Amino acid sequence: MENIDMKPIQWFPGHMAKTRRVIASNLKLVDAVAEVIDARVPMGSRNPEIDSLTAGKPRILLMNKCDLADQNATSIWINYFRNRGISAIPVDCKSGKGLNKLMPTLTNDVLRELMEKRSKNHMTGMPVRLMVLGIPNVGKSSLINRLAGSKRAEVGDRPGVTRTKQWVKIENSNAELLDMPGVLWHKFDDQSVALKLAFTGAIKDDILDTETLAMKLLLFLAEKYPDSLTTRYKIEISGQETGLELLEKVGRKRGMIISGGEVNTERASITVLDEFRGGKLGRITLELPEKRG
Ligand code: G4P
Repeated sequence: MENIDMKPIQWFPGHMAKTRRVIASNLKLVDAVAEVIDARVPMGSRNPEIDSLTAGKPRILLMNKCDLADQNATSIWINYFRNRGISAIPVDCKSGKGLNKLMPTLTNDVLRELMEKRSKNHMTGMPVRLMVLGIPNVGKSSLINRLAGSKRAEVGDRPGVTRTKQWVKIENSNAELLDMPGVLWHKFDDQSVALKLAFTGAIKDDILDTETLAMKLLLFLAEKYPDSLTTRYKIEISGQETGLELLEKVGRKRGMIISGGEVNTERASITVLDEFRGGKLGRITLELPEKRG
């Protein structure tokens, strides 16, 4: 994606050191980490620090919002992670789809050694304990609420765990979840990552004005998913349009005209971004693994 001028964003950097400490101390209490990422931006929605922070702790990647992502791209990403020794499963925490794979993947794959050890030592009754980690807005709370179920059962304080920490039982399983996700703010070394996260709404629109953001998104869609635009907006695309021309086409089709016959590009931008975020343009993934060499 082309280079663009964006205001540098600072995401509560002062909290980071404390966050790291809290996560590190909570890690001692769990058997595995469930890292939640956005299936539309699988790399960009991972905080690179998670690797070092959770080093040595078994981990499962939950590719959330898979209902909004391109299924082919999701399969490519799952293979990509598998080839790097990471188990990833697609989930949709809004409907709960895919979450039935969580416990089997944990016990048969991610935590297999631990399970075998517990079985040998007649400790199979011991609950599997998990902690949820991820950047803001990827669906951590939705995941915890889904897993805890409607009859949310809180587990009493454990020795060594401070009173404020709550464990919730994962419905229909012998597993418990720390009812407090670890939130890792993203570092934006790369502007294109910030841009993709801004498309999804995960970071505030104020890094770019709404119109520039919508134009960048339209250019991406016209190149990678032209059908999403022709089907939704009934516009024709040659592939040569500028972002502004695309935006004007959408606005005109939607009758967003202001005095003088000009297109109200601000309204058109809001429409494009809202409809993309709501999945109305179809299932779209914003990045694929980089090809090596
Ligand atoms: P966080 O704790 O990681 O910050 O994320 P949270 O669960 O609050 O989810 C952020 C937004 O993403 C919420 O939408 C939530 O409904 C939505 N979401 C979570 N998981 C999924 C999913 O698998 N698919 C889809 N399509 N959306 C998902 P919101 O607009 O902030 O709130 P609302 O729509 O729930 O009112």
